Amino acid sequence: MQDKIKKIRIQSASEINLAENSKQLENFRIKYLGRRGEVTLLLKDLAKLSPKQRPQIGKLINDLKKEIDSSIKTRNEEIKLKSAEDGEGDWIDLTMPGVKLPEGHLHPTTAAIQEITEIFSKIGYTRERYPEVETDWYAFEGLNMPKDHPARDEWETFFFSPKIVLTPHTSSGQLREMEKGKLPIRMINISKCYRRQSDVSHTPMFYQFEGLHIDKNISIANLKGTIDYFIKEFFSGKREFRLRPFHFRFTEPSFEIDITCDICQGKGVLENGQKCRLCKEGWLELGGAGMVHPNVLKAGKIDPKKYSGFAFGWGVERVLMMKPGMNIDDIRMIYKNDLRFLEQF
Ligand code: DAH
Repeated sequence: MQDKIKKIRIQSASEINLAENSKQLENFRIKYLGRRGEVTLLLKDLAKLSPKQRPQIGKLINDLKKEIDSSIKTRNEEIKLKSAEDGEGDWIDLTMPGVKLPEGHLHPTTAAIQEITEIFSKIGYTRERYPEVETDWYAFEGLNMPKDHPARDEWETFFFSPKIVLTPHTSSGQLREMEKGKLPIRMINISKCYRRQSDVSHTPMFYQFEGLHIDKNISIANLKGTIDYFIKEFFSGKREFRLRPFHFRFTEPSFEIDITCDICQGKGVLENGQKCRLCKEGWLELGGAGMVHPNVLKAGKIDPKKYSGFAFGWGVERVLMMKPGMNIDDIRMIYKNDLRFLEQF
């Protein structure tokens, strides 16, 4: 049987190599591998062998089968190429453009981060990045939130240990920036933040951008001017904003910034008389801001008698969702990695 295999191997190889067209090749395929082909018959003969011999011979036959199959394919390619070169058969247009690979684009959050960075860089702010794994001092205590202060509860924090946290906000970067000892400060810290929250308007990981401007004679007027500038640049269309008194431990006075809703144009009701589903009362909450608390300046080794400043910290995804026409009604969609969603941007 081994001799037979050998004979077929030599014979088939030379026949296939000499084939001149695909018709001939097909005939050889039938001759060897067809239902009554020579190799197929060999396989049938296997049954006659002793169980000891069967695996070894079976393997030889299978190898032969693969060999014949692959040389038929190779020869077929050669024949095709040759006929193309000779100008026969299929004509190949070498100038035809290739197949285009699908082109990706930036994730909407990345695009928003780039846009925010650019807007603030035009007025002299430098983008900074500060640690995502932070100590209690930078995340809370240095920001005027002593140990066990109830205000801390609002930042549903992930703790690594009692003193190490996943930073729940970018305000921790304020102290790190002040510690550099360079004044005046104009920074925009855009980083990942983490909180134990997940619902239509929260994801456990999200981005914030934190502005901090410290210099001599900085007042609320500067804060308002900066917010006005950002809103005009970032949100197209006419959007009003207001400062609503609020309380944060690290700013005094503190505000929440609201902007008018794009869907109802700040009226709270739609043209058909129904209440606006998005804002209900005409205003959407953008985020917190305020004048840096003297205790925070002191913690950052800055003399509050000589310097003052303002700060604001807003969610990147949140402002992105407020852009006109975004229509994202569940913030979690942004991080589901669903291409059907992402390709819309
Ligand atoms: N860190 C606050 C938060 O995560 C937001 C914030 C409020 C930042 C007021 C500020 C600020 O800089 O002045 O909720």
